[in-house]
Amino acid sequence: MNVLKEKGIPLEKQVRTWHDIVRRPYNRMEVDNYTRTRQILMNGIETEAWGFKHCFVRKCTDSDLNKLLVKVRRIEDMQQTTVNWLSPVNQTVLDTTLGYEQVAVDLTAWLAQNEPDEYVKETFNFGLLEDFDHLYRYSQFAYMIEETDPNEILHEMTDVLIGRPTQNHHNCNAVRIRKPYKKDEVSPVTKVNILTLISGEQQTHNYYAEHGFMYGNTDLKRLYAEICDVEEEHVTMYETLVDPTETMLEKWLVHEFTEVCNYYNCYKDEADDRLKLIWEEFMQMEIGHLQLAAEAINKYEKRDAEEIIGTELVLPCHFESQKEYVTNILENEVDKRLTEKEGYCRIDELDEDWPSYKVQEQTGKDGAPSEKAIQLSIKAIGRDIACADEKLLKKQPELLEKGLEENAQAPDTVSVEKYKKFEKIPPLDFLN
Ligand SMILES: [Fe+2]
Ligand SMILES: [Fe+2]
Ligand SMILES: [Fe+2]
Ligand SMILES: [Fe+2]
Repeated sequence: MNVLKEKGIPLEKQVRTWHDIVRRPYNRMEVDNYTRTRQILMNGIETEAWGFKHCFVRKCTDSDLNKLLVKVRRIEDMQQTTVNWLSPVNQTVLDTTLGYEQVAVDLTAWLAQNEPDEYVKETFNFGLLEDFDHLYRYSQFAYMIEETDPNEILHEMTDVLIGRPTQNHHNCNAVRIRKPYKKDEVSPVTKVNILTLISGEQQTHNYYAEHGFMYGNTDLKRLYAEICDVEEEHVTMYETLVDPTETMLEKWLVHEFTEVCNYYNCYKDEADDRLKLIWEEFMQMEIGHLQLAAEAINKYEKRDAEEIIGTELVLPCHFESQKEYVTNILENEVDKRLTEKEGYCRIDELDEDWPSYKVQEQTGKDGAPSEKAIQLSIKAIGRDIACADEKLLKKQPELLEKGLEENAQAPDTVSVEKYKKFEKIPPLDFLN
């Protein structure tokens, strides 16, 4: 369908009652893992839609436009509350965290495979292996602190094992900066894909920043601090892919279009009837927002929305198991690193004075919480918490050897030799 020709729900009918805003949460035990990932992502999409309009209004001198923006912004905020508060009270912070990293892994893998721009795709694949490693590090604590088998949350749809080691994710933030797309040359698919991922990563950063302190365990708190900082790098990496010459109105249009596409994708895939209705209703609201943004671009810039977003819907958030794709990237790209010239190279091609070494030395000199997580697991059960098929699990030492930088290692780094010893302990027995 051409969404620009759809009517949607008019803005004046979008203000809802408090009763309608607060819905009954899903059931922690019964929810499908991908229903949870949709809910996590859409919360991030709404937070971005709300925050962006604050930036816009702070810079905008046109009072008519401001009046419109603040009215739409309230709706985004109400939608965000509804979506975020679908989380049940008995879903722990660590449960939710595993959900966040499952979003990052399976969403990024989906986007990479559907991304027409090669450089953007490479950037997605790069980030993928980092969130994949976060899932592994957090899984240690989910088991140690809450006796959670990661698969209770992940439903065996996503593997849990070592990726690019988290201690190597700490870069000079200037090195994270990527090359922006050119707004008039790139496909609307790329615009939507990137904005979807920015929203997810930003929400992940905010969630860790707001919840990492909720555990009394200092090692776990430090892990949240460490990974929160990587998510900050991820926001930098993905947001610098966006053309900075886009006007604010153009950005507004892309935001509303991204919301429409994501809700449509959620509606299309959702198995839970109750949530499906929410996705549908919110998609209709977003079509209403899109009409307003399209009218504004027409009025203020004398341009057609179609020039910017095309006429085709994008599917930016289809969730399904991506094990095969992720394994392939893992085996081939675990030793990739960022260059100062917005490109990529392998560890052995890095200069001695690569700026990120310095950051890794500074942040890791007292030890890396992401390594401590594994050290503690070894103490508790003799090995790490890892969930994947046997063949892949056997590759952990090899992956570590390939993926870990020799320079700037934290003093508590778990060695390849230690990983080799895990083979003698069956990975699933520890849970019996
Ligand atoms: Fe929204
Ligand atoms: Fe992550
Ligand atoms: Fe991330
Ligand atoms: Fe919206």
